[in-house]
Amino acid sequence: MYDNPQLIIETANIEPGKIAWRSPSNLALVKYWGKYGQQLPKNPSISFTLEHACTDTYLEYRPKRGVDEGIALEFFFKDEPNEPFRIKLVQFLEKMTSIFPFLKQLEFTIRSSNSFPHSAGIASSASSMSALALCLCSLEDRFFGTLKDDTAFRQKASYVARLGSGSASRSIFDGFGLWGETPIVEGSSNLYAIPYKHEVDPIFHTFHDDILIASKGEKSVSSTAGHALMENNIYAENRYRQANQHMQQLLSALKTGDLEAFGRITESEALVLHALMMTSHPPYILMRPATLSMIEALWTFRKETKLPVYFSLDAGPNIHLLYPNNIKPQVDAFVQSELIPLCENGEYIADKVGSGPLEL
Ligand code: DP6
Repeated sequence: MYDNPQLIIETANIEPGKIAWRSPSNLALVKYWGKYGQQLPKNPSISFTLEHACTDTYLEYRPKRGVDEGIALEFFFKDEPNEPFRIKLVQFLEKMTSIFPFLKQLEFTIRSSNSFPHSAGIASSASSMSALALCLCSLEDRFFGTLKDDTAFRQKASYVARLGSGSASRSIFDGFGLWGETPIVEGSSNLYAIPYKHEVDPIFHTFHDDILIASKGEKSVSSTAGHALMENNIYAENRYRQANQHMQQLLSALKTGDLEAFGRITESEALVLHALMMTSHPPYILMRPATLSMIEALWTFRKETKLPVYFSLDAGPNIHLLYPNNIKPQVDAFVQSELIPLCENGEYIADKVGSGPLEL
């Protein structure tokens, strides 16, 4: 949809320059798990962007010296050259040359770093691929002036981010982002995410997300491999049906400020995601003993206090503890006394619903 052979730089003297974006990770409430075709989702998903878990990407460009047709890229992660990441990025940028043909006319140095420890087991593809997509769209706009309109800019950035990593499509927006076609949201698309703004009770914009590190170990199965395993999962079709139902119920909870329904759907989504991993062939388990201990401690705490505090999980062992700001003191006391002792090295990251990407 965005292929454009006209985006070729005509001038002989390309000035070297630099573009940088900080882009956040996000937490999905209704999960994307299962894809087809070119990074298209089997069901719609919705997430909120985080405030602190971000990737900073600096993209330097200059005219290409040689005549080769490929992508010329140097890549540094945290100031160190990183060959495995570089190779992945070159492959991605090569695929982007029909959208951004000018990529072949330039040489690039990309420097990237995450605000969260790489080993913390936090998904970095959403923040890193969205940061890169934003840089590419800024670059197009700088050379051609084609993306002046903010809506058009973000839609294209989301489309490009999706091709890098599905969940990255949702990180382009502040607050809530929705990706995937659903008849209940006008303008929703499988090709890019859209901001989900209008029908969200203000309480949800005050939500905290404390990421409790149950284990810092490398994941045994990547998300990309996990999506592929959905193809032969006997529960797949029911899951996609359920995701659509959950979407409808969650949007209604967001609209009415129904915290109890929000929590019920969010926790179900997290557990179903992991149940799908356990029912794949071959099966795998990303939760760790500490993950279950934390869930049990949380359920006990909630039963005793009746406070609206809930959990979610990504494709990893860490707990995301979700609650509105007005109960922060009580939840903080519970986290300190009961959950931190269960975290690896007592580590956790206090995050919250975020304000979206920032051009640096
Ligand atoms: C569990 O977006 O990481 O976080 O498209 O293969 O890069 P790829 O997968 P990815 O999958 C994320 C899965 C999830 C749920 C979600 O974010 O919706």
